[in-house]
Amino acid sequence: MSRKAYRAGLLHALDDPSRAGPDAIAYHPDGLLVVEDGHVAAFGAYADVAPALKDAPVEHLPGRLIAPGFVDAHVHYPQVDVIAAWGAQLLDWLQAHTFPTEQAFADRGHADAVAQVFLDQLLANGTTSALAFCTVHRTSAEALFEAALARNMRLMAGKVLMDRNAPEGLTDTVRTGRADTEALIRAWHGRGRLGYAVTPRFAVTSSDAQLAMAGEVLAAHPDVLLHTHMSENAAEIAEVGRLFPQDRDYLAVYERHGLVGRRSVFAHCVHCDEEAMERLAKAGASVAFCPSSNLLLGSGLFGLKRACAHGINVALATDVGGGGSFSLLNMMGEAYKVGQLQGDSLDPLHAFYLATLAGARALHIDGRVGNLAPGKEADFVVLDLGATPLLARRTARTRTLAEMLFVLAVLADDRLVERTYLMGALAHQRGLAAQPRA
Ligand code: GUN
Ligand code: ZN
Repeated sequence: MSRKAYRAGLLHALDDPSRAGPDAIAYHPDGLLVVEDGHVAAFGAYADVAPALKDAPVEHLPGRLIAPGFVDAHVHYPQVDVIAAWGAQLLDWLQAHTFPTEQAFADRGHADAVAQVFLDQLLANGTTSALAFCTVHRTSAEALFEAALARNMRLMAGKVLMDRNAPEGLTDTVRTGRADTEALIRAWHGRGRLGYAVTPRFAVTSSDAQLAMAGEVLAAHPDVLLHTHMSENAAEIAEVGRLFPQDRDYLAVYERHGLVGRRSVFAHCVHCDEEAMERLAKAGASVAFCPSSNLLLGSGLFGLKRACAHGINVALATDVGGGGSFSLLNMMGEAYKVGQLQGDSLDPLHAFYLATLAGARALHIDGRVGNLAPGKEADFVVLDLGATPLLARRTARTRTLAEMLFVLAVLADDRLVERTYLMGALAHQRGLAAQPRA
């Protein structure tokens, strides 16, 4: 049995503080986290936990804050090289930047190399779980799953389904999309810490027949996720209206094919009206809020307050490469800006929940990760509050946890992340090259 303890500030969310109140956030300025065989054995104030520690080694980390690993509820691993592409909105951006970049993933060697870069970036930013798009190529998903398995990451992903309105070399068919998806589910779903998400890109690039097939695969595999985009951009929505004239709105296309349920994650939903939000809430579906992407692509301002009022589970996401950072802390700051532009100042404690437990709930992995409650898998991050002179100065002048978290959200980048642990094992250390992998 391996046992190790870390003395530092400790923070996690037990529930959504915007609903359950401030007690949903547990914070111990001088805390002790005990990890045993890859799982959390104890989490609490140092004075309370230390007496039961017996002889486990304790590492003292003054000036550090330990939090659960962040969860990125929507990200594209093949888009590492699309970050910071200038000057286009969604449909033009896909044609000009994204589709050409994704074509390269027909080559397994390229997919393997980018998968490693992608996972390095997640871990360097303190992200321990993600729901990721691959490309249309089956091998792109195999490359990511293989790389994540070797690192023992709890990661969900899927091969993209797209059988129209995309360049040659980036489309599948109903038949090959089904065969590849089913083969990937068989090979990877539930293996190690991996899970599969059936991943139609969006309604624009799938025929009715392909969306129907996705619904059939989902029905046959009720524990896999459904992951897609919805209502991100005005021109996209107009195109969906043109392609599916019989459906009353964008969501209705997905509803008609049995794609809207408790295990569905819809990225964006920027332009959903109240009625669509209510239908999402009733279905128990989750929404991935992608503030950086929505600002950079000029898509619009997501109504977080409206979505929460409907009771939708909303989680934060980077949407790299539409988004401009892998950091969920940075997303907390971007989400605040989106709120500001609508007259809502997002509470930093709520933002922290959105970046951790809410993501785990969206991915249906909250029984295992998302916070550091005893029994959970010990995926956690060590944040260095003195990582830069400005961070040290500014955090030292905060009086409350909310103030401190807001400083981290506004000033954060990957320098703040000193270490990232997966099931109690060190997976990233700032300043060192990526950890050797099996
Ligand atoms: N909608 C369809 N594909 C994409 C994509 O790759 N990124 C974003 N942001 N939206 C999409
Ligand atoms: Zn996306």
